[in-house]
Amino acid sequence: MTQDQSPRGARRASTRLVTTKAELKENRAAMTGTVAAVLTMGALHAGHLALVERARELADHVILTDFVNPLQFGPGEDYEAYPRPLDADLALVDGLVDVVFAPSVEEMYPVLPPTVSVTAGRAGTILEGAARPGHFDGVVTVVAKLLQLTAPDLTVFGRKDAQQLAIIQRLVADLDLPVRIEPVDIQREPSGLARSSRNVYLDDAAREQALVLSRTISAALRAAPSVGAIRDVLAAALERAEIDWDYALALDPASLEEIGPEHRGEVLVVLAGTVGGTRLLDAAVAVATAP
Ligand code: PAF
Repeated sequence: MTQDQSPRGARRASTRLVTTKAELKENRAAMTGTVAAVLTMGALHAGHLALVERARELADHVILTDFVNPLQFGPGEDYEAYPRPLDADLALVDGLVDVVFAPSVEEMYPVLPPTVSVTAGRAGTILEGAARPGHFDGVVTVVAKLLQLTAPDLTVFGRKDAQQLAIIQRLVADLDLPVRIEPVDIQREPSGLARSSRNVYLDDAAREQALVLSRTISAALRAAPSVGAIRDVLAAALERAEIDWDYALALDPASLEEIGPEHRGEVLVVLAGTVGGTRLLDAAVAVATAP
């Protein structure tokens, strides 16, 4: 592992894999300068690399965590089948991050389920949380632990998982965690489709159909600054039913509650729908200043 003489964004000489909390603590203590944490469940792809790139721009050291968190999977979800290609993950970020922390479940949770955990409140029970009870409680519990273990100055989260980002912002504010959250813009394919590990499930026809999501986002952004016009765009998209919509909503970015036409300021547009059997998300933030 290199020390912090290298300029930000420069390639690290090598990346160290650590699997225990004690080793992580030792490596963290040796870092001088600022530290960014990139929290992942592994199976890294271009979207994660964009998070790593942003972390490298913002901090002297980067710790990437690679841990499939059992607490955020419900019964019948794909916890056992979730991909765990640690060697490929390491190859992808080798030289880009200082440390990869890939603990076992026993290392992370000596007692499972933990006696004390964090809950995401009402924000964790709506939208994605409505279909996945307990999911966001599992997310905030592991994120609180990983932030405690990595002790970063900042951490980066993608805007595509807009609900997760909003809930983690609440976690950090409500528990006074000493870390700055840096949202990172959605990575898109040239067609406009938001990058996602689930895109591999889409055949050509489904890929074409999935563009309804990014087109709806573009139309909503064009409709800003009028919140009424944004809501009209979303209502029209639901009405056309070109995909099997779950929701297309304009929300207050902090509370995740639906906004009315009188709302001013940031508007979080969130979309979820199923295309060719694959559930896809998209999101954007617009600013409303006009009726
Ligand atoms: O977004 C993810 O990959 C996970 O929900 C996270 C934040 C790493 C927690 O397990």
